[in-house]
Amino acid sequence: MDYLLGLDIGTSGVKALLISVEGKVVGSTTYSYPLSTPQSGWAEQNPEDWWGATRKAIREVLEEKKVKKGELKGISLSGQMHSSVFLDKNREVIRPAILWSDSRTSKQCAEIHERAGGLEGLIELVSNQAFEGFTAPKVLWLRENEPENYKKLRHLLLPKDYIRYKLTGEIKTEASDAAGTILLDVEKKEWSQSLLDKLGIDSNILPEILDSIDIAGEISGKAAQQTGIEKGIPVIAGGADNACGAVGSGIVKEGRVMASVGTSGVILAQTNSPTADKKGRIHLFNHARPDSWYMMGVVLSAGMCYSWLQEKLYAEALDYTELDRKASEIEVGSEGLLFLPYLYGERTPHADGDARGVFFGISGQHEQAHFARSVMEGVGFAMRDSLELIKDKGIEIDEIRAIGGGAKSQVWRSILADIFGEEISLLNIEEGPAFGAALIAGVGVGVYQSFTEAAGDFIKVRNTVTPDYEAHKKYNDFYELYRNIYPSLKEDFRDLGRIMEQ
Ligand code: XUL
Repeated sequence: MDYLLGLDIGTSGVKALLISVEGKVVGSTTYSYPLSTPQSGWAEQNPEDWWGATRKAIREVLEEKKVKKGELKGISLSGQMHSSVFLDKNREVIRPAILWSDSRTSKQCAEIHERAGGLEGLIELVSNQAFEGFTAPKVLWLRENEPENYKKLRHLLLPKDYIRYKLTGEIKTEASDAAGTILLDVEKKEWSQSLLDKLGIDSNILPEILDSIDIAGEISGKAAQQTGIEKGIPVIAGGADNACGAVGSGIVKEGRVMASVGTSGVILAQTNSPTADKKGRIHLFNHARPDSWYMMGVVLSAGMCYSWLQEKLYAEALDYTELDRKASEIEVGSEGLLFLPYLYGERTPHADGDARGVFFGISGQHEQAHFARSVMEGVGFAMRDSLELIKDKGIEIDEIRAIGGGAKSQVWRSILADIFGEEISLLNIEEGPAFGAALIAGVGVGVYQSFTEAAGDFIKVRNTVTPDYEAHKKYNDFYELYRNIYPSLKEDFRDLGRIMEQ
């Protein structure tokens, strides 16, 4: 049998997914790694932990399926976006990676806007505004706060590019992840020399940019020993997790929208024209499908809010299944309990690293289950904010496809359909980014002619969630109220931040 391997270097762990070239998932292994929060709003991981977990995951999935010599046709990678891997001249990791969910760089974002000639100037160069989670502000933070480390910096990589380097010995990136650094001219797919000059960043630290489907190298002898993969197998460039998630759920043509409820929440729509939002309210990045782009809104804490509630507040008292069941028994709107899911600040639409989570309207009748449902609804409202922006950009929506852990919950996906007032499709394959990476490997090595062929053949709608229009009407009222809460609290979040810093 012939196989393809997709790796997803996520935030909670790595997944190694083995598929047959006929598009069937035949093996899957996941290994987790720790996340450290040395200060409030900080989020770091050790790239060596990603590599250790990846080696184990690959070995296990290949051994489990007893993959024989010559059967594995290609490998590709997906990974958490924006997180910074800093390497020195010996290609050793200088300090822990600063993650996409880290919000320490507000000052550096302001500095980037200023140096680029304001928001408009920056959007002109790289089609996006600077957010705390993006990579360029992290480089400036390193320069200002850890000059000794900055002096050692020779290579700036994204997570999956680092793992690809460990597999092949080659230092490369590709356009979908390069876009998330906000140092890329997304239209031309070149590093923006103009922005690099304005920021004083040496372009030599940036890797060569490939297309997602290009061969980036082959498995080295050392990596072969470490992982059990045969030496010389082609490693295809791959893509950002959202781009791969989109490929893996068939978002390879205009009109299809991905709603992903993972650690973060994402609303993503493919577009064939790279027209940035003038105010940068929504991201414009390169898609893994060459010469196409996507618009994306990001809710920084989506699934993360639900796991926070379960793990930190309920722990043994209520497991996820029980919590889901209880939440499903609560009526629409959680009897007036609203939740703002801004645990680590918010990206779309507020661009505010100081924002924090809020429960609004707590009253005596509210019990544990109300809080659970209200968290799901709050994430749904936050995702609707992004959906409205996508509609506002004139993108026609034919179909919304839901992926991620949240979409596996029956109650949560109904809540999303009711809040959006739109049908939501569920797919036969729910592996998202890792599956997308495996398909990219297949296109890259020529097993498939195109993404449209691969996605069309393998990814099918298995079920549709239809919205309840009565519930939608009620949610519209709650949504209006939800949208009013953040502006009322904006300055208070700022004050809270100041007090906490003292
Ligand atoms: C996208 C983003 C997150 C990460 C999650 O801009 O920051 O969705 O990619 O891994």
